[in-house]
Amino acid sequence: MAEPRIGVVGATGAVGPVVLELLAERGHGDVRAFASGRSAGSTVTYGDRELEVEEATTEVLAAGDLDLCFFSVGTGPSSELVPAAVEGGAVCIDKSSAFRLVDGVPLVVPEVNGDAAETHQGIVANPNCSTIQLMCALAPLHEAVGLRSVRVATYQSASGAGIDRMDELRSKAPADGNVDMDWPLEGDEFEEEAKLRAESRKILGLPGLPFSATCARVPVLVGHSQAVWIETEDRLTPEEAAEILATAPSVTVAEHPTAKDARGRDDVLVGRIRPDRAGEGLALWVVCDNLRKGAALNAIQIAELLLERQALAA
Ligand SMILES: NC(=O)c1ccc[n+]([C@@H]2O[C@H](COP(=O)([O-])OP(=O)(O)OC[C@H]3O[C@@H](n4cnc5c(N)ncnc54)[C@H](OP(=O)(O)O)[C@@H]3O)[C@@H](O)[C@H]2O)c1
Repeated sequence: MAEPRIGVVGATGAVGPVVLELLAERGHGDVRAFASGRSAGSTVTYGDRELEVEEATTEVLAAGDLDLCFFSVGTGPSSELVPAAVEGGAVCIDKSSAFRLVDGVPLVVPEVNGDAAETHQGIVANPNCSTIQLMCALAPLHEAVGLRSVRVATYQSASGAGIDRMDELRSKAPADGNVDMDWPLEGDEFEEEAKLRAESRKILGLPGLPFSATCARVPVLVGHSQAVWIETEDRLTPEEAAEILATAPSVTVAEHPTAKDARGRDDVLVGRIRPDRAGEGLALWVVCDNLRKGAALNAIQIAELLLERQALAA
């Protein structure tokens, strides 16, 4: 394909500008920025120039002049706008949870299940930020020795909840910097916890994987941290796990990585690999920049995979 015509919907949020930054770094020339009517006419930075923000309407997106569309809007707007862009002939990479668990829609972390992207019918779903970093760390271990169970506690940054939550955290005095939980309850757990389990099972192709999550929002601007405990089919020492992860794509093994270390980086940092003192498995600590590999970068890598394999057409 000649230079793809690219749309970035949600260009004024927390994730959209990172998508624009990564596209500009890669030298894409034909890029349009979209957001809601509230932002129409404003500008966003694209490399060394400014793009005027257009209102994303179903009519504009269905007009047929986009090949590839990155959506970084909420589930409501995505549910309405993505099908319009698909109708217009664009392949859509959607970061909301609107389509992630829909049968037939691939949910993709390229390093883990990249081949699934090629089965798309116009939509490829980008997993939740917490799911992406967890999959980068656990899929190589699963491939080596088989996962038997996963327990995870997350410490998720304010930026994971969008640009308004980032502004809220920035504007508060540090002593008053606490942030609230912001996920709806689904039965007796947060929706975020159920998403993390369901998405991980879909990506790994392990529908019955025992998986327990506790998610928390913490007053950190960027970077999600996770404490993870796994049991595996075959026993694995911490040294063997570190060896496997050292050669895994997008993973760097580090001693005691923090969210601050992860900020601005493209890789997932895994450290504190040690025996689980309460069981037979391992404990790990996983951190990642949720706006980059946890969102924008993963979406760009999906697009690059589709372009490389000439799989952009639905
Ligand atoms: N933040 C993360 O770390 C992360 C990671 C993975 C996935 N995600 C997902 O990615 C999506 C975007 O997240 P975010 O954190 O960037 O959110 P955000 O900061 O709240 O930004 C939302 C963006 O969507 C636009 N928007 C809202 N309603 C719209 C509509 N009806 N039509 C067109 N555009 C509309 C907003 O434009 P206006 O400025 O005009 O309102 C803004 O550009 C969400 O689905 C989120 O769950 C986020």
